[in-house]
Amino acid sequence: MINELSQDIERILVTEEEIQDRIKTLGEQISKDYAGKNPLVICILKGAAFFMTDLVRYLTVKCEMDFMDIDSYGDATVSSGQVKIVKDLSTSVDGRNVLIVEDIIDTGRTLHHLKELLALRKAKSVRICTLLDKPERREFGLTPDYIGLEVPNEFVVGYGLDYRQHYRNLPYIGVLKADIYE
Ligand code: IMP
Ligand code: MG
Repeated sequence: MINELSQDIERILVTEEEIQDRIKTLGEQISKDYAGKNPLVICILKGAAFFMTDLVRYLTVKCEMDFMDIDSYGDATVSSGQVKIVKDLSTSVDGRNVLIVEDIIDTGRTLHHLKELLALRKAKSVRICTLLDKPERREFGLTPDYIGLEVPNEFVVGYGLDYRQHYRNLPYIGVLKADIYE
């Protein structure tokens, strides 16, 4: 039977097992750092949905969760330079220790602007946990506090990451065949 998703993948970059191993380690580290701090864990939709819900299950500290949808990309594979709030938080960040959970950091634009916004809203602390990091592409001075894995400068999909809203439901992370987006 044809697999509509995997037939478009050039190669697997991170397997399901590797993803879970890394998230477990991140969860242990974050649990140590946030002991007694009741962090507000913010999932950046839609890409970080899988990552965030897996990550919090490895946390051994009390935390709260909220969701925010910000978009800088539209449907292109190159950043459009715009950040817009598509869905805002329903929790106040005033005085809270905030942990932003993101799928991938590319230029850093999205989270650079979000960090400024959360500071304006008087968050007590703001840290970033990203599953993937593309440090080669950075344009904004942004260093994530927790990183799952560094990836090369290629367009990746799966485990939440999309190309034109597809491939998020692949259980692994893979490189998309270039002819799909060229
Ligand atoms: P930044 O603002 O340039 O750091 O872009 C971050 C956002 O770009 C992420 O939240 C993703 O939605 C998207 N993005 C960047 N690189 C990739 C990729 O390789 N695959 C899928 N989405 C990506
Ligand atoms: Mg995103």
